[in-house]
Parts: sequence; structure tokens; C-alpha cells
Amino acid sequence: MTLENRTAVPPKSGLRQAPGDYLSGFGNEFATEAVPGALPVGRNSPQRAPFGLYAEQLSGTAFTVARRENKRSWLYRLRPSANHPAYKVHPQGLLRGGPFDEVPPTPNRLRWSPQPAPTAPTDFVEGLVTYAGNGDPGTGAGIAIHLYLANRSMTDKVFYDADGELLIVPQAGRLTLVTELGVLDLRPGEMGVVPRGVRFRAELPEGPVSGYICENHGALFRLPDLGPIGSNGLANARDFLTPVAAFEDVDRPTLVVQKFQGRLWASQFDHSPLDVVAWHGNLAPYKYDLSRFNTIGTVSYDHPDPSIFTVLTSPSESPGTANCDFVIFPPRWMVAENTFRPPWFHRNVMSEFMGLVQGVYDAKAGGFAPGGASLHNCMSGHGPDRASYEQALRAELKPHKIQDTLAFMFESRWTIRPTRFAVETPAMQLDYDDCWAGFEKARLP
Ligand SMILES: [Fe+2]
Repeated sequence: MTLENRTAVPPKSGLRQAPGDYLSGFGNEFATEAVPGALPVGRNSPQRAPFGLYAEQLSGTAFTVARRENKRSWLYRLRPSANHPAYKVHPQGLLRGGPFDEVPPTPNRLRWSPQPAPTAPTDFVEGLVTYAGNGDPGTGAGIAIHLYLANRSMTDKVFYDADGELLIVPQAGRLTLVTELGVLDLRPGEMGVVPRGVRFRAELPEGPVSGYICENHGALFRLPDLGPIGSNGLANARDFLTPVAAFEDVDRPTLVVQKFQGRLWASQFDHSPLDVVAWHGNLAPYKYDLSRFNTIGTVSYDHPDPSIFTVLTSPSESPGTANCDFVIFPPRWMVAENTFRPPWFHRNVMSEFMGLVQGVYDAKAGGFAPGGASLHNCMSGHGPDRASYEQALRAELKPHKIQDTLAFMFESRWTIRPTRFAVETPAMQLDYDDCWAGFEKARLP
């Protein structure tokens, strides 16, 4: 890890952590131990692991996938994960899972204002609100899109998702995820990923938090191929950070909640399962500072498709057709000559869910607020609103930097189907279509 990559993680009380905070690289084979000598050498599963630790393999892909796709880690823990009583169905509030058939999928363009902050005490799991999704965790394809809004830390409670990895985009507040494999500290402007099955406790060291989550049921997120761009650019591998090993030795009752096939289940453990003393492998939580993104665009005319802004992609079985792309629209220079510079009008076979972390998005003069969201499904016409369009027609095309903006998109080959809550919440803007009303008809000679 380089010094410039370090982001200080304050020590957690009762947590024993390996030296440093993070390890640098995307999907590397990492090795880290919170207690010197805890990591076996030369064996994954020796007859007796050091200190009597229990060896456990966590597999994120099938054993037999190609080596370049294969993701697994070996964990060395105080107790085996198998050591727990049965799970029982647990209340799940507004959390939903596939097949997303509560209401008919809609071809209408949808947009939401930010959700109000919760007034009752609400932790990260209690504050999950599902807006939309596609596919089904049972079939290994698709995504679910959630918001999180929380105002208290989880206490003697941990969560894991058996249905997919969680790509988390903080919008407000600092979110500290104390995971089995180390501490992931997330702030707005960063994103983080927690692999499927990895248990964590979400803490709010600076008060209320909110943000967006893409729960990925399909192939694991990875860096996109770069083609003619070459060997550098977009998100660079060295800027991804994975936490060093950290664990707690806690014998208090701990409620372990899991999401399994769209429902929550819970079991009362007699100890904290965040007890992994050492681990090695290439399946682990990671985070990325989105301001490190090497944004690439035109230096002549027009602008490339927004796929040029892809941070991570979850491919489907059809090459080039993503189960989900995670795409950002960061601050950047606009220099194109004789070009309509905002996003153009378009209709897309892929479906697009957008959120805004901060600032203003350049295709909308109003209505798309930080913490809000929009959904433009397969073949629905969208693009700049009338105010943005007319401003762009008149704009002097000198080099211009778009500042104070960070929008993102979860783009999927499968139609994104809203939940009942999403189409009934007062936050849904019933007048969204109006932003494209009143365009003058073109006049032929
Ligand atoms: Fe679009």
C-alpha cells in the first residue's frame, strides 16, 4: 500500500487489527493477519491451524470456473461459521427481492425526490428500502436496487446477504462497515463492495447516513476491459482498497440477520461472528474513491456513449451486454466543437436507474436532487429537459468544466421493475413527464 492510498480508520474499541488500514489493488491475492503468526504458511487447511483457529473457505464463485474468474478466500477464525442455531423468518420492512412482480413493470419514466430521513431509531438493516430490481436471486441473474436511510449504529447485530454482493454508494454521512475481513470506512464520493455472504456491522460514527445499493445477483463486479483505450484509464486497479484483517473477541449474544432468497432470516448467536483473525485470498470487501476515476471523453466533436464512464461491470452471458454496469458522471471538462454537449435524446435497449450523490446533473435543470433517483426503462425516450436543451443550444462552446456533480447509473440488460413502494411513495414525482413538454416543432424550409 502506498502512503497516498492511506485513509485513516480510527481504531474500534475491542477490535484487534493488522498493521495499516488497507491493501491496494483490485482482486489481488491478499494475505493479512491481525495477530502475528495466525496465517498458516504453505497450507490452506493444516491439520492444526495456528492457535487452534478454524480454517474456512469462503467461495464467491463455483469451484470450477476459469482461474481468471475464480474468487475465494481462506478465513482463520475463533469459531467455525457452522456454530450457530437455526435461522427464523425476520421482519423485513420495505426490503424486497426478485422476481419483482408486486406491480406491473412500467414503460413510464419515473423520478423520485429524496426520501425523508427516518424519525424513529433505524439501523442500516431496518432502513433498507427497495426501489426496483430484475431477475431473481434464485436464478443467479439480475440486480436489486435499494436505498438505505439510517440514524443509529447496529449494536450486537450483524448482517449478511446470501443473495448477492452489495455495491454501496454513500450519498450522505460516514458509514463504517466492520466486516469479517476488516473495516471498510465509506464516505460520500466513495463506493464500496461487500461480497456475498460476508458478515458486517454498519456503524454511523458521525450520525445519520443515506445512500444507494446495487445488490448484484449475477457475475461479480469487475473492471471493464479497456480495448483501444489501452492499459490505463477509467478506474485504475491500484486505487481499489481492501481492508487489513481485524477481529473482535466478543462472547455476547449477537443477532445475525441474513437476506436469503429475498427474505430476511435471523439467528441469535452466543458470540460475534466478526472473529476472523487472519485471511488470504482474492474475495474480500473493497472500496474506491470515485474522484480517482480517470474520466475520458472527446477532444474533437460529439461525445462517446456513457459506457466510457464505466467503473465496474457485471457481465451477462452475452458479451458486451451487462447484467449491470456501474457508471459515474463525475466532474469533467467539456471541449467538443459544434456539438450538443449534454447527454443527447436517446432510447436504449438497456434499462437505466440513476442516482445523484451531489451537485447538479448536466441533463436536468431541476427536479433531480441529491438523494433522488430516476428510472428510464427499455426503449423509453429520455434525455435533456427542455430548459437544459435550450441552454445547450445557445451555449458558447468554449472549454468548460462541469464542477460540483457526481451522478451515477446502474444500467442493466434486464428491464428494471419498480416495487409497490416505489410507485406509491409520495417521493415519486407525478409530473416528471412535463420536463419534456413544450418542445417546439422543427420547421422545414
Ligand atoms: Fe439515458
